[in-house]
Amino acid sequence: MIHSQFEYDRAKALATLMDAGVWDPVQDLQAIIGKHFHTEGPPDPQRMAGFRQDVAERCARIPLGHILGYVDFADLRFVVGTGVFVPRLQSMAIVQWIEQNLSLDARSSVYDLCAGVGAIGLAIWSRTAAKVVCVEIDEIAQTYLKRNILRMSAGEQGVTLCEANINRIDVFESARGSVDVVVANPPYVPQGTVLLPEWGVNHPAGAIFAPDEGVALIQSTARLASSVLKPRGTLLIEHGESQEQQVGLILKSHGFCSICTSVNEDFSDATGSSVITVGIKA
Ligand SMILES: C[S@@+](CC[C@H](N)C(=O)[O-])C[C@H]1O[C@@H](n2cnc3c(N)ncnc32)[C@H](O)[C@@H]1O
Repeated sequence: MIHSQFEYDRAKALATLMDAGVWDPVQDLQAIIGKHFHTEGPPDPQRMAGFRQDVAERCARIPLGHILGYVDFADLRFVVGTGVFVPRLQSMAIVQWIEQNLSLDARSSVYDLCAGVGAIGLAIWSRTAAKVVCVEIDEIAQTYLKRNILRMSAGEQGVTLCEANINRIDVFESARGSVDVVVANPPYVPQGTVLLPEWGVNHPAGAIFAPDEGVALIQSTARLASSVLKPRGTLLIEHGESQEQQVGLILKSHGFCSICTSVNEDFSDATGSSVITVGIKA
């Protein structure tokens, strides 16, 4: 009897998620079920109530990661929550490019600018053992970043948090010309763009939108990267599909060469393409 009630609730939840416009209702429902019913035994009223609340939140387009409290990225589990950017599959293009094209090891130094909860930087560290500095301005993101570094015991192995604004080049003076790789997934959406509610309404605006048609923080990234990278050091930036030309010009103006933009279909999904531009410091 209880089980058939659960079956009914599950079917109803799926229908409401579909009606709400959630783009992957089956996977989201599966994740929410996993959160509440991962233990043995029939669903009790308390768990059912929690399940229904989470489905209602997802229908209100609260990001799935904020509801679950975690997101998986690059075979690692990151804690996330309200007020921080939830790492996206799209950023795997940066991690994969590094694995396929560079030979980083424990002697290599990497800066992850606009690091958020640390997904890209920690993924690179976990796959290469490189020393990684995660630069982040926002206090809530810094809190989650510290937790992720702690949970992965990455602090003891050379991952550090730098609480800083990437526009403050003076703060990074001691690192000038010493870094092998800079990676960044900065805010790059032009202000005023209408996005899916998960990003347009339920993410911090400072993690999504940027002035100057979305490229202000890409400018800052290129400027800082140009300062801290060694000669022949590599810069990888994630950005929007329509920004290829602008990003290319920005990198060129900051002294980068061999500039190449690629769209990775393996890491693109219904919510957007995975686009990165790579440049080498001349
Ligand atoms: C699109 S989110 C990406 C987070 C992370 N790189 C990821 O892919 O999951 C951009 C991040 O940049 C941070 N940010 C925005 N402006 C910044 C600045 N001037 N200096 C440092 N971080 C900044 C935001 O707080 C946010 O965490």
